[in-house]
Amino acid sequence: MFALAARRMGYRVHTFSPESDTPTGQVADVEMQAAYEDLDAVRRFASGVRVVTFEFENVPAATAAAAAERAPVRPAGHILHTTQQRLREKSFLSSSGFPTTRFAAVRSMEDLHRAVREVGLPAVIKTASFGYDGKGQANATTLAEAEAALAESPQVERIYEGFVDFEREVSVVAARGADGAFAHWGVIENTHRNHILDLSVSPAGVDPKTAVRAIEIAQGILQKLEVVGVLCVEFFLTKAGELLVNELAPRPHNSGHLTIDAHVTSQFEQQLRAVCGLPLGSTAQLCSAAMANLLGDLWANGEPDWAAACALPGVKLHLYGKSEARPGRKMGHLTALADTARRAAQLALEARARLTRK
Ligand SMILES: Nc1ncnc2c1ncn2[C@@H]1O[C@H](COP(=O)(O)OP(=O)(O)O)[C@@H](O)[C@H]1O
Ligand SMILES: [Mg+2]
Repeated sequence: MFALAARRMGYRVHTFSPESDTPTGQVADVEMQAAYEDLDAVRRFASGVRVVTFEFENVPAATAAAAAERAPVRPAGHILHTTQQRLREKSFLSSSGFPTTRFAAVRSMEDLHRAVREVGLPAVIKTASFGYDGKGQANATTLAEAEAALAESPQVERIYEGFVDFEREVSVVAARGADGAFAHWGVIENTHRNHILDLSVSPAGVDPKTAVRAIEIAQGILQKLEVVGVLCVEFFLTKAGELLVNELAPRPHNSGHLTIDAHVTSQFEQQLRAVCGLPLGSTAQLCSAAMANLLGDLWANGEPDWAAACALPGVKLHLYGKSEARPGRKMGHLTALADTARRAAQLALEARARLTRK
């Protein structure tokens, strides 16, 4: 989606990935396949471009540093480093005064017992590195469940988080330009299923004070990290009306995919503008919108019925070109546009339900 936005504005795109025939590779001018650890390949790649960005925060810090020897890397490698490890990320947030749930580092059974005493139960226990879409996460309501979460490899570094009995989840996708300009797409409301984003709705049904506060927190985070590019802040809104930062994604985010169809400038065009040193574009919203993710599970009975979903007015189909439809894998999304957020959400769900052949 970033590459498509770049091509539309006349840029050439080179992509670097350990895999071949990637969604970006299919629309890029050059697709280079090499391991992130192959730093000579990274340097060769970066020598062929004017600026480097990434759409995946688990790129190793050494890879970002090698690229930075040859071309500017935006956002900078230090932002990847902070956000790619949950303990570093939450420590950064809490030491900078941004609100988070209570947490502790767990590297052994002893640490776990201390965390249970100090943070309490219920809890969510997550591997500190390489987690996404709920991978490496376990909920625990009892000590036995917490111990079971560590049973396989107790020495793997984990974060132990107090479970947040949230009222709802929201996100703020925001951008910071090379000149320090700030832009955001308002507050988006997110529903997860099995820890995976299922539905995003914009604008979120939160009161104006909460919306202003969420955007202030997001702006503070982008400034503090000196981000050049798009960064998403995921929040829990507690039943007491308190906002807690759940996590950061230093890139265009799944909850911001609806900006492609519903806003003057999408999160992908904004990422392009920011990293290429252009002025940020208007983020004005054209109409209410909802985005429903399409997971590989939808392919269980063969190719989904795309025509049935596309027959609904105001529904837009986005497929990423991933060849293998595995359960839980994000294959694409539907965006529904309507005059209210509520109607957009209903339309997105109806469109997705139509994909399953009877
Ligand atoms: N501490 C928590 N309390 C309650 N729910 C949580 C907590 N941490 C994660 N979750 C649930 O799991 C989802 C995915 O967790 P998250 O930390 O955002 O990881 P990922 O990197 O997989 O997106 C969250 O959006 C939320 O629904
Ligand atoms: Mg998340």
